Order: sequence, then C-alpha cells, then structure tokens
Amino acid sequence: MAKISIASQDRVFVLTGAGISAESGLPTFRASDGLWAGYRIEDVCTPEAWRRSPAGVWAFYSARREAGQKAKPNPAHFALAELEAKLGDRFFLCTQNVDDLHERAGSARLVHMHGELAKSRCERECGRPPVEDHAIYRSLDEVGRCACGGRMRPHIVFFGEVPLEMERIQDEIHQSTLMLVVGTSGSVYPAASFVHWARQRGARAVYVGPEEPLNASAFTHVVEGKAGEALPGLFEVE
Ligand code: OAD
Repeated sequence: MAKISIASQDRVFVLTGAGISAESGLPTFRASDGLWAGYRIEDVCTPEAWRRSPAGVWAFYSARREAGQKAKPNPAHFALAELEAKLGDRFFLCTQNVDDLHERAGSARLVHMHGELAKSRCERECGRPPVEDHAIYRSLDEVGRCACGGRMRPHIVFFGEVPLEMERIQDEIHQSTLMLVVGTSGSVYPAASFVHWARQRGARAVYVGPEEPLNASAFTHVVEGKAGEALPGLFEVE
C-alpha cells in the first residue's frame, strides 16, 4: 500500500467513528448486527426518550459503559497516538466515539464531539460541569442527583442536540491541510460535512475503512481495509 506523506508544513485533522473501535470488540451502530439493529434511536438516544424513560436510557448507556470498560485500545488507536507524538500541535483528533480508547492509547489533543461514556451531567443544564462517572446502574434509584436537584444524565449528545466543541473543531479544520477520516459511515451530520469543509480549503482527505462511506466521493484517497491493519505504517512523516 502506498504511504501517505505528511510534510513539515502539514496540519492533520483526524475524525474517527465507531469503526475504529470495532477491532476492540465494540459494535458499530449501522452494521446489520450493530447497535441500531437491536435498539431504536428514539428509545435510547433522544431528549424525548430521556423525558419518557430515563431508566431505559441509563440501561442502554450502562451496558455501553460495561462493554467499554472491558475493551482495550487496538493498533489503530495506538497508530494515531504515535502520529500525535510525532506531529505535536500539528495534529488534532475529533472522535464521534464516546468510549475512551483513544485516551487509553495515549492520545491527548482530542475532543469527543458526541460526549463521553465515563461522564454524567445534570439534566437541567444548570451550569455545573460534567462529572466523572463509571457506574453501571441497575436501576434508576441508583442514579444520583445534581446539587440543584436535577437527575444526572449520561454526558452523551442525543439526536437533536448540538455536538460539543464545534467552534474548536471548525477552527482546527480550517487550519488543516490533511484530513484523515477513519471508520465512520458518513451518515450523521455535522461530522459527515467535515470532509467538505476541509476540501473547500484545499486540504487532502483520506478515508480508511473496510467499505466506502456515504460521502466517499468527497475524499481524495480511500484506503479500503480495517483500521487496525491499515493505519499502522500508513503515514510517512517527513
Ligand atoms: P456507523 O455504525 O454508522 O459506521 C461505522 C463505520 O465503521 C462503517 O462505515 C463501517 O464500514 C466502518 N468499520 C467497520 N469495521 C471497521 C474497522 N475494523 N476499521 C475501520 N472501519 C470499520 O458509526 P459512526 O459513523 O461512528 O452518535 O456513527 C456516527 C454516530 O451515529 C455515532 O457517533 C453515534 C451514532 O448514532 C450518537 O450516538 C450521538
């Protein structure tokens, strides 16, 4: 496989999706045996679902926490951490994933645009920041309350809510000269638009995954393969 060269003036923006954690044993969302085949988004991942059934939402995210805690980073997570170690602040990682496998592989310059499994926050948006929370809740009675009295909810961006850190993400995309997208189907916005934003500014764009994403035509290069096999050794840093 031809290497992708990163020159000294390049700035790299990476977007990852569920596919990068697939080889760690975490299911993706839209595969035929993926999470959205077993659950309906409207039942577990919307503000309405939370209002109707906080117990159901917590049951879903408690199960995600349990699976996430058992999983280990795979060679793809480590390859990105190594790339960051080489590029320093010329590297930025934006993940749609709520697991912490990037951090556990050593990534530090990253944002979780769809939230983090290991945190909870007040349902009332009362201004108190999210808190670390690794609990696996067996019933709603176990879920704590914020100092303001609101119930604690998963620190997850539900469908219909605005993704986190968008200003910083936009700023990093505008500065980037190479966009690398790994393991995402290109079906959820605004993340699916990032490649277009980068291309409008003349950046190269590379996709890595076993099948073409919906927005494949926007990329300058598609590397077909599993992230854990394709990413290590893919880049040549000048
Ligand atoms: P999807 O399930 O939509 O897509 C996963 C992608 O990973 C697919 O394109 C697969 O081809 C690819 N894939 C599978 N195995 C892979 C591997 N070993 N290496 C690389 N790629 C692989 O998941 P996302 O695109 O991440 O949002 O989904 C985006 C958002 O929709 C998620 O963040 C989540 C979901 O609903 C929220 O929960 C807010």
